[in-house]
Amino acid sequence: MSQMHNILPVGIDLGTSSIKISVGEKKYRIPSLIGEPNPGFKGIVADKSWINNLVVTLDSGEEYYIGELARLQSMVKIPLAREGKMKSAKDVMVAIKASLGLICERSEQTFVIATGVPVATGRNEMEALSKNIIGFHNVVIKNDATGEVKKIRAKVLAAPVMPEPYGAWYHLLKMKGEEKAVDTVIIDIGYGSTDILTVYNGNIMRPASGSITEAVDTLVTKVAQFLTDKTGKMVKPEALIATLEKGKTTVAIGGTLYDIKPQIDATASYVVLAIIDEVERLMGNLPPDAVIRYFIIEGGGVYYFGEKIKEALLDKGFIRSLDQVLIPEEPVLANAMGFELIAQYYARKILQRR
Ligand SMILES: Nc1ncnc2c1ncn2[C@@H]1O[C@H](COP(=O)(O)OP(=O)(O)OP(=O)(O)O)[C@@H](O)[C@H]1O
Ligand SMILES: [Mg+2]
Repeated sequence: MSQMHNILPVGIDLGTSSIKISVGEKKYRIPSLIGEPNPGFKGIVADKSWINNLVVTLDSGEEYYIGELARLQSMVKIPLAREGKMKSAKDVMVAIKASLGLICERSEQTFVIATGVPVATGRNEMEALSKNIIGFHNVVIKNDATGEVKKIRAKVLAAPVMPEPYGAWYHLLKMKGEEKAVDTVIIDIGYGSTDILTVYNGNIMRPASGSITEAVDTLVTKVAQFLTDKTGKMVKPEALIATLEKGKTTVAIGGTLYDIKPQIDATASYVVLAIIDEVERLMGNLPPDAVIRYFIIEGGGVYYFGEKIKEALLDKGFIRSLDQVLIPEEPVLANAMGFELIAQYYARKILQRR
């Protein structure tokens, strides 16, 4: 058996709406929330899955609800990222511990974990997170529905922390078989922010990278406001997400059906304009010899804005033909999958040194 089996490479993408985890065939998406426990009788729970009933116990004895359980049951919820930034390395660590418990099938496991954080996250927070992840952890998780407890002794050998869109860049270039780093602008349209990352000569170019708050939440908030005005009934943005994720553009409010396609289209055009303006501004900071070969568009926003952005890139003359625009097969998971490849690369290096 290859030694690789002893080290489990994991890719984590820490988004504002969900954390994405990639380990081999297994992919997970959990809400980016931790919350205080709120014990009590909840009735007979139909869904007994670990992912939706996740509780983590820290060494101090403190307990936290994670992801979906926090979303539904915690009174106090802490978002792990907001406005394009990771909030606190300590809170994120709680979620990472829970994730390790979730994916691990043994009582002891060695890991390499590559994590992506929003682009506007400061360098100090990124370093703090990396330091927190490396080392030994006693992970204790509990399934709130069944009461089952899982204990794991985790050892993390390396924990690179990078800006989120770097994952998709790495993933796509590996998939395309590109050996050399290719100059690329990555546009990651998430829930709470659109992150733009420029890779030039294989390095992340900070002056040509940035983040704006126009993203999927801009769209759902506007459409929810429109429906509230039109129907006189309070429509929350979160309530629209399930409909939109199913690809539907009609919603039923108080028994009446409404077609929201015109509002989606109008708001999408505005969001795309904001994104393209920012891309243009950031590209102004590139050195004159930089020729951008590819634009990658990724994140859940692809489903709403992908086509319009493609057209705008062509109209603006940023690209000569549409084959310069790459959209990953799995636009939401692409970062996490790329980080897993980066974790594999670190794991191989560690094994070579032994
Ligand atoms: N298949 C789909 N169809 C339509 N919408 C989707 C689909 N998958 C995800 N989304 C939506 O896209 C939005 C952005 O998802 P994504 O996971 O990219 O955000 P995030 O990474 O959590 O946020 P950020 O990158 O801002 O930190 C979410 O609101 C999600 O509901
Ligand atoms: Mg994201």
